[in-house]
Amino acid sequence: MHSLDTLLGSLRAAGEHTRLRILALCARGELSVSELTQILAQSQPRVSRHLKLMVEAGLLERLPEGAQVYFRVPDREDTSKIAHALVALVPESDPGLNRDFSRLQQVRDKRTRRAQKYFQKVAKNWDQIRAMHVPQQQLEEALLEVIGYEPISELLDIGTGTGRMLEILADRATRGIGIDLSSDMLAVARSNIERNGLTNVHVRQGDMYQLPLDDASVDLAILHLVLHYSDDPAKVIQEACRVLRPDGRLIVVDFAVHTEEYFRSEFRHHRLGFTDEEIRQCFNAARVSVLKESRQLIGDPLTIKIWQAQKSKNLVSISQPRKSAKQMS
Ligand SMILES: C[S@@+](CC[C@H](N)C(=O)[O-])C[C@H]1O[C@@H](n2cnc3c(N)ncnc32)[C@H](O)[C@@H]1O
Repeated sequence: MHSLDTLLGSLRAAGEHTRLRILALCARGELSVSELTQILAQSQPRVSRHLKLMVEAGLLERLPEGAQVYFRVPDREDTSKIAHALVALVPESDPGLNRDFSRLQQVRDKRTRRAQKYFQKVAKNWDQIRAMHVPQQQLEEALLEVIGYEPISELLDIGTGTGRMLEILADRATRGIGIDLSSDMLAVARSNIERNGLTNVHVRQGDMYQLPLDDASVDLAILHLVLHYSDDPAKVIQEACRVLRPDGRLIVVDFAVHTEEYFRSEFRHHRLGFTDEEIRQCFNAARVSVLKESRQLIGDPLTIKIWQAQKSKNLVSISQPRKSAKQMS
């Protein structure tokens, strides 16, 4: 529970026009100083001064990552409740804020377009590129071991790319679906599925932030080397957990935190890996339990981790049903 002094400190830090705008923006996902500078149309030193003050008051958390620093509303500090309470009071209909939100959308669209352009370019060679970054055979063996031999009725591979996860898990699942935003990657996935004669799995275009699936409709969801493309990993994990059945599992395979900055410029990674704590926080926010210790495969230069979570038997749904969602078929 926060003290009266903490509350006053937070109110003072938030009680300024630009800082309140920054708080409302960072509550919608983590943002770098340069992105905030673009959205707010203010100079970088000025934005940095505001950010410093807000971090000191605990309204924002600073996440250094290679050459970039991201800012977000913290999940665990005393002050995060205050920050969220203030954000809830911000009038969304304010014309100035609406301008900020639409610029925020432009910043996000630009990031997505950059990643999509990259996958358009590399779709045909993706399997070879992936093998350059991960010890593929070792990783797949570890993954199959983590998944185990319990029958999977409905499998979901989020950000399926060329459909490799569907390929290696098709014989353990009754049905499998792969979702991806890139039609170029999906074209390669479709031809891989056909070439391998897999009739129980298919792919569909869709967004990991808004999966075209009903609540509680899959037994096992996988995010294999996808989360580092997200600017809001907690949201992706929450959406994945929405579609999990009670008792269903989510497996996240991604890089441990690293400092290889060129992965951002060359391979369009948004995040340079994740800590166990970050993933644990995302699982907690999505109300799923962390299963066992994470597995680790040391690679050069990147270490890969496998994290696992399970939805409780009693937790039927964590969001409102979506009208547009369809049952898996
Ligand atoms: C690094 S690839 C990994 C592909 C595959 N999981 C694998 O391990 O080979 C990341 C994939 O995530 C997809 N992706 C990125 N953003 C996405 C989004 N918002 N919704 C769905 N897929 C997305 C990309 O198109 C790409 O195919």
